[in-house]
Amino acid sequence: MRVFVAGASGVIGRSLVPRLVAAGHEVVGMTRSRSKQDLLRGLGARPVVADALDPDAVAEAVAAAAPEVIVHELTSLSGPMSMKAARHPERFEGAIVTGRLRTEATDHLLAAGRAVGARRFVAQSFGAFRLTAAGGPVQTEDEPLDPGPGGPRQPGLDAILHLERAVTSIDWGEGLALRYGGFYGPGTAVSLDPEAPLTGPVRKRQLPIIGKGAGITSYVHVDDAAAATVIAVERGGPGVYNIVDDEPAAQREWLPVLAEALGAKPPRHVPRWLARVLAGEMATAMMTDAKGSSNSKARLELGWEPRYPSWRQGFAEGLGERDG
Ligand SMILES: NC(=O)c1ccc[n+]([C@@H]2O[C@H](COP(=O)([O-])OP(=O)(O)OC[C@H]3O[C@@H](n4cnc5c(N)ncnc54)[C@H](OP(=O)(O)O)[C@@H]3O)[C@@H](O)[C@H]2O)c1
Repeated sequence: MRVFVAGASGVIGRSLVPRLVAAGHEVVGMTRSRSKQDLLRGLGARPVVADALDPDAVAEAVAAAAPEVIVHELTSLSGPMSMKAARHPERFEGAIVTGRLRTEATDHLLAAGRAVGARRFVAQSFGAFRLTAAGGPVQTEDEPLDPGPGGPRQPGLDAILHLERAVTSIDWGEGLALRYGGFYGPGTAVSLDPEAPLTGPVRKRQLPIIGKGAGITSYVHVDDAAAATVIAVERGGPGVYNIVDDEPAAQREWLPVLAEALGAKPPRHVPRWLARVLAGEMATAMMTDAKGSSNSKARLELGWEPRYPSWRQGFAEGLGERDG
């Protein structure tokens, strides 16, 4: 099939494009930068330069490619999140732009897909953790995302809900929203790169266990996420899928294992009240109250089997290598 990948040069795109090509698909990859065209050619894609926030440019790029499938992997979350940004995620530039990519850019790509007669649309959503009071510690796609937390979390959640509703309700084809777990592996926030946004502070013992460290994260190796995305390009009914590993885990479990994998000293502990003052409500809640996601649906309906079913093995073996 001809597949149009928006976000082809990104962390997930760089793993996804070669897999699509290896599976026999023709890939057109979108970037804003002329300078990244060679990177895309190297991955096996035909590059097209367009800004996802410009509806005319998107319509033109998609029309020229005439794809059967569109994949939306656009985010703008790179770079370390300062304490100030953690305290006010609603003011963090990367989160604001990502919100626009999840709303405006989604709508531009969907309109372009409809116009060109595409029949499938696969988009990145977010499932690394859930901050909802309802339900058990590990949740399925059927359990509602907290629709009304208010406060600084609301804009980000609204953007995710917009993307998921818009994508899964198209009437011209099948729309799948993939709620990826927290990425780890090459190029991600959890990698061997000394400056990586999460593992950098873990190496320096700057990320403590907060309170009882009971907040749950669902992780996924970036190459496993890419492999699941290839399947979603090829098959699977419309809807939302959690693309996470088999072992959602509390912060007190995963953080010491990650520190050990990095050769760092074990994490310190800080009380919840202090974390709230220093890092704010949302970052604290992530580490103390968050809930995880179940991958049963993706395993059953997509037939996806992660190479790293647990972050335990993945942190030990997969932080720095691509599996090809
Ligand atoms: N589930 C997760 O854990 C998760 C999810 C997302 C991100 N992250 C973390 O965030 C970091 C990645 O940073 P990132 O969010 O900047 O993503 P990225 O993976 O580095 O790249 C974002 C992609 O979106 C494209 N893009 C962004 N804005 C665009 C626009 N206006 N028009 C066209 N293309 C646009 C970029 O293309 P060009 O730059 O080539 O134009 C690039 O291909 C990593 O550390 C990763 O671990 C984690």
